[in-house]
Amino acid sequence: MPRLFIALELPDAVKDALMRMCAGVPGAKWRKHDQLHLTLRFIGEVDGGLARDIAEALTLVRAPGFELALRGIGHFGDGRRPRVLWAGVDTAEPVRFLHDRIERVLGDVGLPSERRKFRPHVTLARLNGVRMHHVTEFESHFGGYRSPGFPVHGFTLFSSFLSRDGAIYTPEADYPLVPAQAHSGA
Ligand code: 2AM
Repeated sequence: MPRLFIALELPDAVKDALMRMCAGVPGAKWRKHDQLHLTLRFIGEVDGGLARDIAEALTLVRAPGFELALRGIGHFGDGRRPRVLWAGVDTAEPVRFLHDRIERVLGDVGLPSERRKFRPHVTLARLNGVRMHHVTEFESHFGGYRSPGFPVHGFTLFSSFLSRDGAIYTPEADYPLVPAQAHSGA
């Protein structure tokens, strides 16, 4: 059964810059270059029939393309148990809009809606067992991080394979967004 998720791919230059930052937190399990993306929706394991329905339904998503920049560093998890270190996004609205459109078509093929609130981010590392003061140091050092803006022309359905060396993410299908000009009617 394929394990699926939907994400925005990041330009190589942005991933290169993130990779250069990703060090200096003892115990952090850093993402690799080809594991960096912005997850829009985690789906999980589905059978082949549903996977095909999902791939088909995503062609119905209508949302405008937009410009995105990453900004800031933060973590999920409470003060004693940080779980995930992430880079945030500068303007979340277009990402949320796209997320909501995706959620709607996935609902139409029978997927239950997500229980967790959507918080757009790019995971940089898993932090199980990492000491909070190392996380705080990293955040204060890189808190001013801001990527250059980049255009988002589409989103991608990925499959995820959990190997012994970590997750392998494979793009399965790309879905274009509506070019900004076409959307504004210009
Ligand atoms: P993340 O970026 O927040 O880590 C592929 O596994 C992607 O799906 C990951 O990048 C992760 O998002 C997200 N993901 C993995 N397992 C998940 C789960 N159980 N619930 C929600 N999202 C998950």
